[in-house]
Amino acid sequence: MSIETIKPRLRFFEAAAGQQHIPETDKYLYAVAPPAHRLAIIGAGTIGQEHMRVARLLGRAAVHGIFDSEQRSIDIALANYAAQEASLPEGQRQPAPIVYTSLESACNDSAVDALMICTPNYTHFDVLKVAMASGKAIFLEKPMATTLSDAAATVALARDYQSFIQIGLQYRYKAQYVESLHETLERRSLGAIKMISMSEYRPPFLDKVEQWNKFNDLSGGTLVEKCCHYFDLINLFAGALPTRVYASAGQSGVFDALTRDGRKSDIDDNAFVVIDYDNGCRANFTLNMCSPDFTEQLCVVGTRGRLIATESFDVHHRQEATTSLKLELGEFGASRESALGYASVIEKSGHHGATYFEHAAFLDRLEGKARNEGGAATPMQGLWSMLVASAAQESSKTGKAIELAAYIEANGLASVLGDSFTAN
Ligand SMILES: NC(=O)c1ccc[n+]([C@@H]2O[C@H](COP(=O)([O-])OP(=O)(O)OC[C@H]3O[C@@H](n4cnc5c(N)ncnc54)[C@H](O)[C@@H]3O)[C@@H](O)[C@H]2O)c1
Repeated sequence: MSIETIKPRLRFFEAAAGQQHIPETDKYLYAVAPPAHRLAIIGAGTIGQEHMRVARLLGRAAVHGIFDSEQRSIDIALANYAAQEASLPEGQRQPAPIVYTSLESACNDSAVDALMICTPNYTHFDVLKVAMASGKAIFLEKPMATTLSDAAATVALARDYQSFIQIGLQYRYKAQYVESLHETLERRSLGAIKMISMSEYRPPFLDKVEQWNKFNDLSGGTLVEKCCHYFDLINLFAGALPTRVYASAGQSGVFDALTRDGRKSDIDDNAFVVIDYDNGCRANFTLNMCSPDFTEQLCVVGTRGRLIATESFDVHHRQEATTSLKLELGEFGASRESALGYASVIEKSGHHGATYFEHAAFLDRLEGKARNEGGAATPMQGLWSMLVASAAQESSKTGKAIELAAYIEANGLASVLGDSFTAN
C-alpha cells in the first residue's frame, strides 16, 4: 500500500515554520513520498499552469517539462511555479521544469510518462497526432476538438492507441456533481430521472493568448468551448442518448468592440438549449455570460424526488466558492440540505478542487489501478458532449430543432459512434 493511502496528508503542519526543525530522518507524518511519475505540459497558459500547480499539490507526478509557442507564457509559468516551490519546506522542493524547444521534443522525452495537452482548442487535433506518436498516456483538454470530424477522428485513433486518452471534462469532479451523480446514479434516490435543468450565469469569457476563445473557428463556438462541460454532465445524469436538440443563442454586445487581425469577435454569450433523450428524459441548459459573478445550478427531478445543486463564486467579495446540495424526497425518504467543499488547499488550487481529483483519476489509470474507475471522460463521451453542443449551435443558426439521427448521418459520424448510436 502506498504511503498516501495509510497516512493523512497534514500540509498545515508539514509547512508550518515551527515544525521545520524536525530532521528529514525523523519525519513520519510529515514525510512526503517523491513523485512516481513525470509529466510534460504542452501549452503553459491559464489551464496549463493550473495543471502544473495541481500536479505539485497532489504530489504523485512531477512536472518534468513544459512547451509553449510563446516565450511570455513560459516565463510566467516558470515564475509562478518557482514561487509555489519556494513556499514549500526545503526537503519537498522539486527542480524547475525543463523547457522544450519543440512539440516533438516535449512529446518524445523518454523521462516523461504522460503528456497534458493544454493548448487552444483549434490546435488540439494537430498536437494530439504528434503526441500519439509517443505511445504515452495523454490528457487532452476539453473540448477535444473544434469540429465534429476531428473529434470523431480522435475517437477512432484512441480505439487503437497503445495507451489511453483522457478528456479534460473535469466538472465531473466538482464536489456538487460528484455527490449528485452518486445520489442519482448509484443510490438512485430520485427514482427514474425525468427532467434535468442546468444553468451557468457568469462574467464574459476571460482574456486568452491571441483571444482564441472569442472566435467561433478557433474555439468551436461558445457552446462547444465551454458548455461541453455541462452537456457532458447532462448526458451522464440522463443516462441515455440525446435524440433532439433545439437552441436559441445570441450576443449581448459585450465583445462588440473586440477585434483581432481585423476580425470582430463572433461568439455567442447567451443561450437556451433544450435536449430530448431516448429514454423520455428532457433537459435544458441556460447560459448567460454577462453576469457579475459565477453561479451554476443543477436541478434533477425523478419519479421519487428532486435534487438541487448550486455553486456560487463571488469573485468580487470572496475567494472560495460556496457549494450546496439539496435533496427533497417528499414521503419517499430522508430529505436533506448540505454545504459541500473539498479541503481549502485543494479548492484553491483550481476549478474549486475538480482539477485535483481529475489528476488523481488520470494517475490511477496511468498506474493501471483500474481501467477507468475514477470515472474520467473518455474520447467517446467527449464526442457526445460535442455533438449536443454542435447541434445546439446549428439549431440556433437555423431556428429549427436538430434531429440527432439525421445530424449524425449528415456529419458522417454513424460508424465511429457504432453501437452507442445504433442503440439510439
Ligand atoms: N477543463 C477546464 O475546465 C478548462 C479550463 C480552461 C481552459 N481549458 C482548455 O484548455 C485549453 C487552453 O486554454 P487556456 O485557458 O489555458 O488558454 P490560454 O490562452 O491561457 O493558454 C494557451 C497557451 O497555449 C499556447 N499555445 C498556443 N498554441 C500552441 C501550440 N501549438 N503549441 C504549444 N503552445 C501553444 C499559448 O501560447 C498559451 O500560452 C483550451 O482547450 C481550453 O478550452 C479547460
